[in-house]
Amino acid sequence: MPITFAVLGSGGWGTAVACLLAQHPDHRVRLWSAHPERAALLNAARENARLLPGVKFPDALRVEFDVASAVAGADCWVSAIPTAYLRATLHRFSGLCGPDVPVVSLTKGLEVATFRRPSEIISEVLGTEKVAVLSGPSHAEEVARGMPTSLAVAAPDGGFAMWVQQRFGTDRFRVYTNNDLIGVELAGALKNVIGIAAGVCDGLGFGDNAKAAMLTRGLVEMTRFGVAHGAEPATFSGLTGIGDLMTTCFSPHGRNRRVGYRLGQGEALAEVLAGPQVAEGVLTAKSVHERATRSGIEAPIMTGVYEVLHNGKPPLAAVQDLLSRSLKH
Ligand code: 13P
Repeated sequence: MPITFAVLGSGGWGTAVACLLAQHPDHRVRLWSAHPERAALLNAARENARLLPGVKFPDALRVEFDVASAVAGADCWVSAIPTAYLRATLHRFSGLCGPDVPVVSLTKGLEVATFRRPSEIISEVLGTEKVAVLSGPSHAEEVARGMPTSLAVAAPDGGFAMWVQQRFGTDRFRVYTNNDLIGVELAGALKNVIGIAAGVCDGLGFGDNAKAAMLTRGLVEMTRFGVAHGAEPATFSGLTGIGDLMTTCFSPHGRNRRVGYRLGQGEALAEVLAGPQVAEGVLTAKSVHERATRSGIEAPIMTGVYEVLHNGKPPLAAVQDLLSRSLKH
């Protein structure tokens, strides 16, 4: 009996995971695109030429625009919708799911107004408790081309996490299970903010020393912030913490690093954000700053990123302020 997956969101990551799942001989995959003309284009070309050029869709993958056709009879939903659109988009599907439809969340962000994690938004809107979070260092371009990748899956239902491990895992896509859902999800969101800071260092022309310091002190902030919200500290030294942080901070094609890089080079924010891809860290910086300020959590790097993005602070001034903070010991 084949297993049917409905992947919601045809961005780079949604497309790469849809292709990965469709390689399995027992899987059928429907990839839902929010744009009718894009869905038609993807189906006709059998590839996402804009985001993953040269990666051909397996035969078992079909692209849908109609919401009902996308999820009809699906055994598992996979959400790859950016955080800013997640709640509104899921509302279009809310009447179509059973009470306990299993959902795998691929989104790494935090809702600005509510501070909700993507898995919480999914549970709220779809009314399911069976939500798993799959996260880790996983650039879509590499996964789509079969390059080795390791991630972690976390879910309140350990049996579901193991099912995801089995169904998503291949000899090139290694999935570990992790019990710390809050930590896995928060680490994935927070690393995007530090990725922007790392990009700023590169854009300003700083060297390896500055970047290593930004990454290391950034990880300390991520851990402090996560632990204050119920995460396990160990999660931040694993794949979904430092692992994903390294990928985001060093990759030339990382979206968040690129935002920071271009700001560091002196481009205006509006210009930087005009591209087709979503850099989640931009809005996450806002929700984290608000929460850190309200809860008295020390997060100077993430605050600096917030100031640059949302208060027009010059990137160099933000770095200088970080460097001249008084040392406690
Ligand atoms: P970036 O594109 O910012 O690196 O984010 C992608 C990601 O989360 C890779 O794991």
